[in-house]
Amino acid sequence: MPEGHLLARLLLALGLVGVIGRSWAVPLAVRQMQQRTIWAERQLLAGASAVRTEHMAIGRAARGMVRQQTRSLATPFYFDQVVDHSAGNLTTFKQRVFINANYYSPGGPVYLLNSGETPASPSYLVAGEPFTLAKATGGMVLIIEHRYYGESYPVADMSGPNMRYLTVDNALEDIAHFIRNAAPFVKSAIGVDISPGSKWVAVGGSYSATLAAWARQKYPALIHAAYSSSAPVLARADFFQYDEVVAQALPCAPHIAEAIQVLDRILDSGNRTLINSWKRAFGLQALKDDADFAGALTDQMSYTVQYYMPPAPGSGAPDAIATLCGWFNNSKNIPLQNMADMTAAHIRASNIDPASAYSSGAGATNTSLHQDGRAWYYQTCTQFGFWQAAPPMPRQRLRSKYVTAAWQSKPCGLFFGSEIDGQPDTEALNRQFGGFAPNVTRVVFVNGLRDPWSQLSVSVNETTSKEIAQSDHNVVITMPLASHVTDFYFASTRTDFGVDIARQSILAAIKRFLAED
Ligand SMILES: *[C@@H]1O[C@H](CO)[C@@H](O)[C@H](O)[C@H]1NC(C)=O
Ligand SMILES: *[C@@H]1O[C@H](CO)[C@@H](O)[C@H](O)[C@H]1NC(C)=O
Ligand SMILES: *[C@@H]1O[C@H](CO)[C@@H](O)[C@H](O)[C@H]1NC(C)=O
Ligand SMILES: *[C@@H]1O[C@H](CO)[C@@H](O)[C@H](O)[C@H]1NC(C)=O
Ligand SMILES: *[C@@H]1O[C@H](CO)[C@@H](O)[C@H](O)[C@H]1NC(C)=O
Ligand SMILES: *[C@@H]1O[C@H](CO)[C@@H](O)[C@H](O)[C@H]1NC(C)=O
Repeated sequence: MPEGHLLARLLLALGLVGVIGRSWAVPLAVRQMQQRTIWAERQLLAGASAVRTEHMAIGRAARGMVRQQTRSLATPFYFDQVVDHSAGNLTTFKQRVFINANYYSPGGPVYLLNSGETPASPSYLVAGEPFTLAKATGGMVLIIEHRYYGESYPVADMSGPNMRYLTVDNALEDIAHFIRNAAPFVKSAIGVDISPGSKWVAVGGSYSATLAAWARQKYPALIHAAYSSSAPVLARADFFQYDEVVAQALPCAPHIAEAIQVLDRILDSGNRTLINSWKRAFGLQALKDDADFAGALTDQMSYTVQYYMPPAPGSGAPDAIATLCGWFNNSKNIPLQNMADMTAAHIRASNIDPASAYSSGAGATNTSLHQDGRAWYYQTCTQFGFWQAAPPMPRQRLRSKYVTAAWQSKPCGLFFGSEIDGQPDTEALNRQFGGFAPNVTRVVFVNGLRDPWSQLSVSVNETTSKEIAQSDHNVVITMPLASHVTDFYFASTRTDFGVDIARQSILAAIKRFLAED
């Protein structure tokens, strides 16, 4: 089958519709993570024509060397994964796996991507940085779906008690168990032998990058090296530092802070007439709870900064930050009115249903499978926190003081039962893996400093980063102008904001690691 044809079939199988059509009835921090899937898929699709050309060129040049494709890469395989690694109980569930061995040469590396808090997407078999690395090093790409996401469920529904196997330790043990059994699995799936000399490289973006680094730390004998793009390695319940990065990125931050001060005085007043008239001005009158109302106002700023990409020079494309800040240029209004106009327009344009999108308890009793947001919320409730909250006063605040970590963790019990009390054990996780200073070697940590999540990664603290970089030459790469997981999925050939240099360094580091025993 010609490569072009193959790619077309793959793109059809991306599942984009499923992501965009998902209900937003999940708390704030969760929606922020979900947006990444949509954005990443868009970027990959944007680069797809370049990928197709590359495929064809390679097909022509290396006919006979490159294994001919007899099936679509989008074909999933299912690995028998252990439900509970801590129990010595060998009951299994079906874990979804995607494989691209087209560039694999015997002894080449195996890049293992755990999909993290999003469904596994075969798009990473043909685009994105793991694919690029595989192509450049004669490697194979394997994607395994994280338990409780996509189609990989060890349980029959997502009721509270059934969520108990969703732990970082089980996710890491999934990776180890898969690697130990991968050779016969891949052989029976696609007929390719993984040579005993092949080295495993764990890769990931965002939470999946955290897993990659921690898997290398926990199983150094199985995993030779790792590439971690925008990995939050410090668990933290009250993640108010998120907004500090947002504030630095937005030239209109002082206007937003002024609007928020006025908003908080209005909410403090308890004057229902006044509060309700402002809810109407924002298009959020459907929200009865005042904190839900305040919480709904942060999305736009967060998305704009977390996924910011400077427009290509000379493209004439709008700059997302300038567009957002443009709303505050209207000096006829007070900033709160400008913010209301901006939000109301956003809600109309994005066709958001505020009651289901922004009510904190919405969807709590729905225990159906296939709710990635629910699974991620469980992980934040129990282990990570990561709640993007207003900073303590008197700092400049871009979100209302009513948007606290406590407010965001309050629905945990409603979703999963009273034992899940919204007090994630971040201490235990940070003790186990070392927080900002993980005890690892041969990991490439990459961050964009425009990414609010970089505050929890190896990059911002120069002392720790230097120590980590020196500990048996890990590599720490920071891109001052880039945002969240840009290097991981960005599919274009843009060279103007440092991603190309970062990618050269990533490849050089991986090659160096692979040359070691
Ligand atoms: C093993 O785990 C499965 C699935 O959780 C459970 O149904 C079964 O009862 C367990 N078996 C034992 C012996 O604990
Ligand atoms: C409440 O706000 C409304 C609208 O601004 C105002 O007319 C009214 O006087 C306020 N009520 C009190 C008790 O301050
Ligand atoms: C807003 O004002 C700033 C400063 O005056 C200007 O640079 C920017 O272009 C304006 N933005 C819009 C969208 O009008
Ligand atoms: C529960 O969630 C499932 C999966 O997302 C969805 O299809 C279904 O419509 C939801 N049910 C209700 C009552 O909202
Ligand atoms: C770091 O890991 C190495 C190798 O796994 C181990 O020998 C060493 O004791 C660890 N150091 C700390 C401080 O945990
Ligand atoms: C950097 O991290 C180390 C170790 O976690 C910590 O002791 C130190 O205070 C941090 N420095 C800054 C400037 O945050």
